[in-house]
Amino acid sequence: MLDGMGMLEGIGMLDGMTRFEGTGQGGGATPPPSPIGWGGPGGRGPGGVAGGVVAVSVGVGGVLGGVVVAGAVAAGPPSAAELCWLHAAAPTPTRSRAIETDVRWNMARDYHVAVAMKAPRGFSRDAARSHGDRRSENVLVHGENLDAMRRLLRAGFAGRFRCVYVDPPFNSGRRFAEYDDASTPAEWLSMMRERLQAARELLSDHGAIFVEIDDTELGPLLGVMDDVYGRDQRISTITVVRSAATGHKAHNRGPVNVTDFVLVYARDRKGWRCHQLTREREGYDAAYGTWLENPADACVGWRFTPLGSKARAVLGKTATRPDIERFAVDHAEHVVRFAQPRYEAVSRKAQALIDRSRREPGRVLRLKRAPRKDLLLRGGNRVLFLADKVATIGGRRLLVEPLTNLWDDVPFQGIAREGGARFVRNKKPEKLLARVLALSTDPGDWVLDPFLGSGTTAAVAHKMGRRWVGIEQGDHLDGLCVPRLRRVVDGVDATGVTQAYDWRGGGGFHVWT
Ligand SMILES: C[S@@+](CC[C@H](N)C(=O)[O-])C[C@H]1O[C@@H](n2cnc3c(N)ncnc32)[C@H](O)[C@@H]1O
Repeated sequence: MLDGMGMLEGIGMLDGMTRFEGTGQGGGATPPPSPIGWGGPGGRGPGGVAGGVVAVSVGVGGVLGGVVVAGAVAAGPPSAAELCWLHAAAPTPTRSRAIETDVRWNMARDYHVAVAMKAPRGFSRDAARSHGDRRSENVLVHGENLDAMRRLLRAGFAGRFRCVYVDPPFNSGRRFAEYDDASTPAEWLSMMRERLQAARELLSDHGAIFVEIDDTELGPLLGVMDDVYGRDQRISTITVVRSAATGHKAHNRGPVNVTDFVLVYARDRKGWRCHQLTREREGYDAAYGTWLENPADACVGWRFTPLGSKARAVLGKTATRPDIERFAVDHAEHVVRFAQPRYEAVSRKAQALIDRSRREPGRVLRLKRAPRKDLLLRGGNRVLFLADKVATIGGRRLLVEPLTNLWDDVPFQGIAREGGARFVRNKKPEKLLARVLALSTDPGDWVLDPFLGSGTTAAVAHKMGRRWVGIEQGDHLDGLCVPRLRRVVDGVDATGVTQAYDWRGGGGFHVWT
């Protein structure tokens, strides 16, 4: 019903006790004088993102649409009430779609009512700079981050974020076009201490904070992290190789600085939920040089030949070393190596089997050790499979190894165009943030970056299906972050990790001040 009569009804419970009701009627070009009347505490509906679940049924043109959603309804000016989603009880996508077609459309046309997530108390939503799906929960805060984090805490965001990534000014002594990076060491440290404390309150019990830094303030930062988060909460100090020793750097006195560090602390180490990641391994481990003919048979009957002979029999006599290595990776279930077990570190049962295996070198013996992998022994040596070192990434089988605290495989070169945001010297690679988020979060989790810069964390979180809040005080929020994130939402940013996460656009974000 576009221009005819409309009716809206709402009933609901908030926090299990506050009841509100409302009806509205209107039609044609004239909006109703007061489309929705609310009951509730003080006679008004809940503002912003109050907790609780509300059921709203909507009828248009006298016909009850029967749409029932979980959400909160907030009263606004008479002709601009807003339907707000709760964080905890956000509707499922199906329900969201129902609301979009059945409610937003009709409400907007018949009642001039907007449906959007409203900024909580303490923030105002800037509609002109917000973009995309208005039900989205992602937020760009344009403001000073200590003040913004304190306002987020008051607005109910405490304990919400599974990952906080902090990439502060490194106190390099430089003055960049976008911000000043020259404080006294004491000023810098006190600035960081306050912000790290606020960030800690925002972290969830399963969460962790990642703070990037170079060696200028590394020592003092470690000290303050230990103070604020606790030494016991240290997870790792990751070394990130950000450049090579080329150009003018090679003429510096002493060793050339080519690294950043990322300090990782948990809110509660025991409760931290993370993922075991692997990374692509460079170079083939030549120890994997034996071909197992019949891995599907019982291990006592396994037959082995040299990998090279098998590969040449299949590929031809002219097969090169790289050909053989590729063949091995493609048939990794057949490729093994033999390795000495650490006799003193294994169980009595395992020791007994090792002894027996030495006495019976021609047979492969197996010890089941669920949930660990079976122990396989031949001639007293362990039989290790190349398949355990191979993963399929992007449809290709690749050699991988466990992720360590040395990250030398994330190129910082060639990122100038990432996200279409030029932020010389300070921008971080999307791949770096993708690794941080893959390690520490799952889809739907909340991610916070209080020093957003050009918007890298938000762009990557968006592409990876995480919910995010980014805070930036500089004017480059409008020059860099907003346009970058609009492109991500619109699905026209083909750079960075777009392809790796098969990102095609969608969602949206709000700008709060
Ligand atoms: C090193 S840059 C972050 C770069 C970012 N990781 C990226 O990839 O683009 C630090 C940013 O923090 C911002 N900043 C510094 N102090 C701030 C504060 N107190 N509140 C909000 N933003 C701040 C600066 O304007 C700058 O954009």
